This record gives sequence, structure tokens and C-alpha cells, in this order.
Amino acid sequence: MTDAVHRPELADATDPRALAHAAELLRTGGLIAFPTETVYGLGADATDARAVARIYEAKGRPSFNPLISHCADAEAAFAEGRFDARARALATRFWPGPLTLVVRRAPDSRIADLTAAGLDTLALRVPGSETARRLLTLTGRPVAAPSANRSGSISPTTARHVADSLGNAVDLILDGGPCPVGVESTVIDLSGDRPALLRPGGLPREELEAAAGPLRDPASDPDAPTSPGQLASHYAPNARLRLNATDPSADEALLAFGPEVPGGAKATLNLSPTGDLREAAANLFAQLHALDRPDIRGIAAMPVPETGLGAAINDRLRRAAAPRGYD
Ligand code: TXA
Ligand code: MG
Repeated sequence: MTDAVHRPELADATDPRALAHAAELLRTGGLIAFPTETVYGLGADATDARAVARIYEAKGRPSFNPLISHCADAEAAFAEGRFDARARALATRFWPGPLTLVVRRAPDSRIADLTAAGLDTLALRVPGSETARRLLTLTGRPVAAPSANRSGSISPTTARHVADSLGNAVDLILDGGPCPVGVESTVIDLSGDRPALLRPGGLPREELEAAAGPLRDPASDPDAPTSPGQLASHYAPNARLRLNATDPSADEALLAFGPEVPGGAKATLNLSPTGDLREAAANLFAQLHALDRPDIRGIAAMPVPETGLGAAINDRLRRAAAPRGYD
């Protein structure tokens, strides 16, 4: 078990023991690659921010994108998000299958802030792959999973692709053969007045529109408030954020990092007292939310090293610090 952390195992997804092992790894903070009908996913327990931080680290992308949480069945998804009649109808019609629904977060959702990159909406899907659903049932929690490739390389549709791209960044690769759909799920946003197509994918638009009516197209609609590329940068605290701060004033909140924390701030939270970037990533959004209080003048953020997950943390802090209207 312990060496599985450093050497990726390839396991047959039809073997019940392999599925049970994968579920156990997920339940204990592990990172595993698993087949879905669209592409292979790089999965972690969506409720465990530390585990989700490992996804971003393994992908090697210098920013946090909101991730899709995969659920065993529609009921499990309904427990995490707010599904109105329209959302329920689409879920019933197209799940399990290659459709992701973006809905508002349910107040008692267990999904970590980092999984949604701090947004108050969640992307949820019930995969068509029976292997994936069996794994999700055994895990008993929503599983966050982007495509199982390093940032910038093509999406993996075989276990071999995953092994070539992610190597030993994962604890286990479940081999379920080639993915039948081969492109990512279609993503639609149901959090606004009219459904919007955020990403074309495995479920054809025509089929969706037959059920949902005409979809808004934020990418080609100049009046749309947000386009998919901008969504990831949507969350920003109301409070003014000051970067590379080492001298907080008495009316500021301090977002600290590392063992040496200056005193004097009105409130202080530490991203990681030991200077661990994975822990810092896991805490980032929850701590920004917690410090974003009306009784402070601003948030002073201490410097975070620009290595590993630090690049994504700094990217997010810079966006949050930029003047409003920044895109
Ligand atoms: O087919 C798939 O969907 C694959 C397999 C593994 O299931 N997964 C996948 O996940 O492609 P990911 O995390 O790479 O895709 C996330 C997509 C992105 O386009 C992201 O911007 C969008 O979903 N997304 C996620 N959460 C969102 C949110 N709260 N609001 C808007 N868009 C969101
Ligand atoms: Mg991808």
C-alpha cells in the first residue's frame, strides 16, 4: 500500500478487488485515474480539499479551474446542488451520460471550496460508464475529476495515455479499455435565467436543445456577462486585497503563509503554518471567504513562493487583487 503512493499501479477496472482498492484510495485522500465514457478522469474525493489540491498539482496548470464532481446517481447529485424542475428534468433525461450541469451549490453541500475554485456554483455529472458509477458507489462521495492528462496535452482515452502523461503523479490507474465517446462531456450552466452552453462535448447540442429549448452561447454572445474562460476568475472577495504584504495594519485581515507571522492585524488566518503549498491551496478559498468581512478595510496577503502549486495560488491572489472589471 505505501509504495502505491509513489509507483502508479495499472489495475483491471473489471476486477472487483481493484475497484474496491481504488475506492479505498479515494476515501483516504489518494489520487486515481479512472475510465468514464468520455475520457479518463483524474479523480480525488471532492469533499477533501487536500486531495483536490493534488489534482491541480498533478495537472501542472498554474491556475485553479473549477472541476466537475462526479456522482454515483442523480440522487447523490441532488444532495450537492440546487436542482429546480428544469435541472431535474435534464438530469432525469440525460443521466447517466456525457452531460455536466452547473447549478447553485446546496447550502449543506460537502464539496470543498477548492473543487469549485471558490465559486458558489457546482458542476455535477453522473457518468455513463458503469465502471465509473460502480467506483463512485463504492467511494460513497462525489469525486472531482478533470481529464487525466497534464495541462496542455491531449485528453486521454486509454489507460496508456494516462500513464504516459501523468506517470507517477497518480496512486493507481484503473484500466477500463478505450473510452467510447472520446471527447469531454457537454457542460451547460443552469444557474441563470436561460441555460447556457459552456462547453460543447459528448452530448450533441441538438439533443439538448430538443429537451431544454435554445441554449445561450456565452462564447459568441457579446452581451453575455461571463464567458467560460472568465468563469474561473469570477470569484473575488469584496474586500480589497493587498499582495506581498509583511506589515498588516490594525484594520486589515492577514492571510498568512509559513511559520513567521507578523502581528498587528485585526484577524489572521494561515494558509499553511509549515509552508506546505498543498495545504495552502486546500485552504485558499475557504480562508479568503472567511476573511472577507465587512469590518475590515482589506486583506493583506503574505508572499507565497511561485513554485509548484504556489503558481496557481499566486495567480488566484493576483486576480482577486486586480481592480474590478479585470478579465
Ligand atoms: O467528460 C468530462 O467532463 C471529463 C470526465 C473525466 O468526466 N471531465 C472534465 O472535467 O472534463 P474538467 O474538470 O476538466 O471540466 C470542467 C469544465 C470546465 O470547462 C470548467 O470551466 C467547467 O467544467 N466548470 C466546472 N465548474 C464550473 C462552474 N462552477 N461554473 C462554470 N463552469 C464550470
Ligand atoms: Mg481537460
